[in-house]
Amino acid sequence: MKLPKQRSLFPELSGDLSPPKPVNVACIPQRSPFRYPGGKTWFVPTFRDWAANHYPEPKILIEPFAGGGIISLTALFENLVSRVVMVEIDEDIAAVWQSVVDGHAEWIANKILSFDLTKESVVAEITKSNVDTREKAFHTILKNRTFHGGILAEGSGFLKYGENGKGIKSRWYPTTLAKRFFNLKHVADRISFHKEDGLKVIQRYSQHRDVIFFIDPPYTAGGKRAGKRLYRHFTLDHEQLFTLCESIKGDFLMTYDNTDEAKSMARNHRFQMRLIPMKNTHHATMEELVIGRDLSWMDRYPAVHEPLTEYNIVCKKERVPKKCSSGQSKPRH
Ligand SMILES: C[S@@+](CC[C@H](N)C(=O)[O-])C[C@H]1O[C@@H](n2cnc3c(N)ncnc32)[C@H](O)[C@@H]1O
Repeated sequence: MKLPKQRSLFPELSGDLSPPKPVNVACIPQRSPFRYPGGKTWFVPTFRDWAANHYPEPKILIEPFAGGGIISLTALFENLVSRVVMVEIDEDIAAVWQSVVDGHAEWIANKILSFDLTKESVVAEITKSNVDTREKAFHTILKNRTFHGGILAEGSGFLKYGENGKGIKSRWYPTTLAKRFFNLKHVADRISFHKEDGLKVIQRYSQHRDVIFFIDPPYTAGGKRAGKRLYRHFTLDHEQLFTLCESIKGDFLMTYDNTDEAKSMARNHRFQMRLIPMKNTHHATMEELVIGRDLSWMDRYPAVHEPLTEYNIVCKKERVPKKCSSGQSKPRH
């Protein structure tokens, strides 16, 4: 396995000061049919490294907040585990995973291939009522591919200009999408899907030792972040999630926005944290927080530290504020 080049632990001594680069997601096989807000394609190399080298060898991966499910699908297609348990509470997204598990992936693929997409045809299709689960799944894919940012939450609307001004069609790649569904057919019997509260499923499997969890909750810790705009279900008892993680007998990896609230919960529960660079949907480089019980294996990766923050010290004698940088001693996270 090709690992990212390790950087010196003391870059200031070796002159190696280039910041670690985010993963180039174009190099990662895109197996999910979703274009998912908060999708974790950029996390795939780190997840692979963790799962492939995990001892004892994990049998089951549980994804309690599955969304577009890229991590579960990677684990299946790359045989990193024998089974996955995917959980999602949103009924539109749940319809897709349920249909795949029920053997309708090929039906959805053919539906995609035969659909003549215009704004009118999409509106006519998604406003049909009394549809069954696989039709609802097809509607979800249509909405996910034609709504701004792939966002299904209330308040989302059709893509106006899209890629290169192609408007509503700019994210509709019928052959590629159909191929992803045809491929899903081959792993469907290794997926268990639950439309349920992810916290309940964590609790149910918490005492199993051969299970690993990839936990990617909606980011609303601190009450302010993007999760509220992106997902229909964004409220979560984050403190309960951290408490449940403590009870896990297997192992877990959790990703969060790099916020003070998330870091403080991780510290209170005595978990370790690392920062990892990623590019957001606007191509800006940001850091996300990885939380786990023992993340020492991540120390082989280029280190990312919290940005330096400035603070003021008032010197008693002079009463003159002096600007200092917290970077003078290495920040810990
Ligand atoms: C950050 S997204 C997950 C993205 C996913 N890792 C991916 O790569 O596409 C969080 C997901 O959790 C779902 N969700 C929110 N609350 C939930 C709950 N209590 N139980 C299960 N799923 C929930 C949201 O609908 C959303 O799809």
